[in-house]
Amino acid sequence: MDQTSALARIHFLRSEINRHNRLYYQQDQPEISDAEYDRLLNELIRLEDQWASYISLDESPTQRVGAPPLDKFPTFKHSPPMLSLANAFTEDDIRDFQGRIGRSLKPTGLIAYVAEPKIDGIAVNLLYEKGVFKAGATRGDGQYGEEVTLNLKTVRTVPLRLQTISGKPVPERVEIRGEIYMTIDGFNKLNERREIAGEPLFANPRNAAAGSLRQLDSRITAQRPLSIFCYAIGGEVAGYDFATHWEVLQTLQQWGLPVNEHVRRADTIEACVQYYRNTLDMREHLPYEIDGVVIKVDSLILQDELGSAARTPKWAIACKFPPMQETTIIEDIEVNVGRTGVLTPVALVKPVQVGGVTVSRISLHNQDEIDRKDVRIGDTAVIQRAGDVIPELVMVVASKRSGTEQPFKMPTRCPVCAASVSRAEGEVAHRCMNSDCPARRKAQIIYFASRGAMDIDGLGEKLIAQLFDAGEIRDPSDLYTLDREKLLAMDRMADKSTDKVIDAIVASKHPPLEKFILALGIPNVGEHVARLLVRQFRTLEGIASASEEDVGMIDGIGPVIARNIATYFRESRTMGLLKKLKAAGVVPKEDSIRHSALTGKTFVFTGRLQHHTREEAEGTVHALGGNTSKSVSKKVDYVVAGEEAGSKLEKAKSLNIPILNEEDFMRLASNAAIESDF
Ligand code: IVH
Repeated sequence: MDQTSALARIHFLRSEINRHNRLYYQQDQPEISDAEYDRLLNELIRLEDQWASYISLDESPTQRVGAPPLDKFPTFKHSPPMLSLANAFTEDDIRDFQGRIGRSLKPTGLIAYVAEPKIDGIAVNLLYEKGVFKAGATRGDGQYGEEVTLNLKTVRTVPLRLQTISGKPVPERVEIRGEIYMTIDGFNKLNERREIAGEPLFANPRNAAAGSLRQLDSRITAQRPLSIFCYAIGGEVAGYDFATHWEVLQTLQQWGLPVNEHVRRADTIEACVQYYRNTLDMREHLPYEIDGVVIKVDSLILQDELGSAARTPKWAIACKFPPMQETTIIEDIEVNVGRTGVLTPVALVKPVQVGGVTVSRISLHNQDEIDRKDVRIGDTAVIQRAGDVIPELVMVVASKRSGTEQPFKMPTRCPVCAASVSRAEGEVAHRCMNSDCPARRKAQIIYFASRGAMDIDGLGEKLIAQLFDAGEIRDPSDLYTLDREKLLAMDRMADKSTDKVIDAIVASKHPPLEKFILALGIPNVGEHVARLLVRQFRTLEGIASASEEDVGMIDGIGPVIARNIATYFRESRTMGLLKKLKAAGVVPKEDSIRHSALTGKTFVFTGRLQHHTREEAEGTVHALGGNTSKSVSKKVDYVVAGEEAGSKLEKAKSLNIPILNEEDFMRLASNAAIESDF
């Protein structure tokens, strides 16, 4: 093919593929099969490869298939910063919003609003230069985000080039703000695939979207069903003089950026309240999750006049929805035996969609909870799910009882090993008393390999359960004796997945000492206590040989836990396990705790962080020798408040505990890291 016809063909293929993308992703009306689509795309990839020196790849649909993985994401500065929103929870809060606006503006005529669904996803910023998508980033702390351009290019509804509007040139430079989300259907299908592959499931569409967008390998992101709605422009745009937010939304749409179809103009605050009600009714019929509505003052002049508080504009408010509830039937109550022998009752409910996500199992926690809520097998129950939270049972509907419902009593014998079950004085938990119970041993190995502990990738619950049931592993040290044959004999294990698991097992041999201690699963020894032990005794040897008194001297470890720890290390089983682990080459790193300005300081994180996951932020504190806690008390040194922080923030204020935003925290941590003794 000569150059002219090759370039013409490339041009043709690009516009055809873009057209099919629109038909498929935006209009839901595909004209060709997936196989035909792939043929077009592959032809384009081949031609572009061949003629790469004559053409720009920037806006080609081939960019959407992903690129080789990055080591880390570069930092991206948002200009202006990406703000977040103040919350309203009731209709009166919405009316108060209008009251505040009225008071801070010079007397003015009627104030008009724009009301929009609040999409429950991840905020992003898209930078277009001369109409071409150049870079994009997550919100981060509002000022700096992570640049995830390659990942955003794989999102089919993010246009790689803006369309011109009736001959008017597209802006030289414009930042577009929007929300990346995953449809509920896409989320359910993704989880089905993950379940088959034995991978951990995402809790909800928002987490799935966040996890997908923050993949270092954009080829993985390309396989995730992500989409975008755009809702604002960051800053001024040369050549465009918008008077209202409504005009902005229309322009976004004309540029080819997806704008939610349910955005409305509202002339009064009462119309906004009505919109809130209507949208609440509509919520369960939408193909994506929304967690409220956003109300914005329409006039940009008034927006300017109102200005912003620290991190939230005064001209907009997020009106949150209550959690989603459904009723279902409790078909049975199953008892699970955990790693410390605790018996947890789990309600098996008739599968029900709560906001589109299927719920079939709900933890009932313990017998006291069951008694308090008077839960019986056969009962009709109200269950709820709120955004990020695990589904829970709200109450049973006693009026729906037929009389055949069965009260539940914890078994007196372990459902797995039939050993006796007992409930210690003052404890809510029932426990299986057999320390050799197979259910406990299996759960211990699962815990050992899990993400927070030894972090052995690919070695999930299902695979461990199979290996255990097949008699291949009896304790954690046996993981290090697994070979390819043993793994390949398990369901759904192919060559590639087997190699990955073997690599991950080998890679886990030198964990930080505190992770190793945690992984042992000593009763009541969580991350916090594990760290205290490492800080005090420094070596595995030191911890294992410490007496009950030595351990009890540590500030933060009470007498019961001190006894547990000392007893654990005296048991012959423990000594055997440690010996076997050592023989298998598992040698923890003993210098992983740093001494820095954060050493000994306790942090509580609350609300949604933008720049990090909660685990990452806590990991930073731990690596610098600090502690983290889940609850606010006088012993806490700092509370880091993310978006939508609630009661913990209030409590911190009332106790006069210093409150940091994410940015302050990052500054504090990086200073501490620079000045630390490592
Ligand atoms: S406007 C300055 N509009 O909600 C205003 N935000 O809690 C910036 N969100 O970080 C946000 N849908 O991630 C706006 N229609 C919408 C939205 C929306 C979802 C998210 C966004 C923001 C968070 C604020």
